Amino acid sequence: MSSDMHKDVGKILFTERKIRRRIQEMGTQMAADYKGKNPMMVAVLKGSFVFMADLVRAMDIPCEIEFLGVSSYEGKATTNTGAVRLTKDLNTDIADRHVIVVEDILDSGLTLQYLMGYLKNRQPASMEICTLLDKPERRKAEVYAKYKGFTVPDAFVVGYGLDYDEGYRNLPYIGVLKPEIYE
Ligand code: PRP
Repeated sequence: MSSDMHKDVGKILFTERKIRRRIQEMGTQMAADYKGKNPMMVAVLKGSFVFMADLVRAMDIPCEIEFLGVSSYEGKATTNTGAVRLTKDLNTDIADRHVIVVEDILDSGLTLQYLMGYLKNRQPASMEICTLLDKPERRKAEVYAKYKGFTVPDAFVVGYGLDYDEGYRNLPYIGVLKPEIYE
């Protein structure tokens, strides 16, 4: 990363303003869908921390928040199975609760496929996925996300929680990293 993060971004895909407006729409819809249900919002760390913070404030209904920490196993064989290592489990019982899993990006789908299976075993009343970004070109597992913010092309996107080598998460917008940064 150069000392100016912005210089490493080749193109801005979604400005702060555009992200804010879209999240407001999503929050309004989700608040209507979950009115009276006190949903349990489960953010998958780390990438979704920024989205989660803005999304719950765009939902004008009571809800609770929880965090799951995951990291993918290294190595081809295991990543193809979608096995992820849980680095932080839920602190609350989700049985009979209406769960919304909050992600920054749905890419191959392997992480969410695994997590949905994991959470289903805890017998929630219902479970849906809300992802800010959807990158359908790289999908390997069939995953249904009821709430989606934006569709993105198969490019290296960073910012608004998304990282490259742990950097760029604090960019307020979402952009495409210049190839020379990661090549
Ligand atoms: C990203 C993202 C999802 C996952 C999606 O996390 O937050 O959890 O990848 O990819 P998939 O659909 O191909 O499984 P990442 O592993 O980069 O960790 P981070 O959230 O800590 O940045």
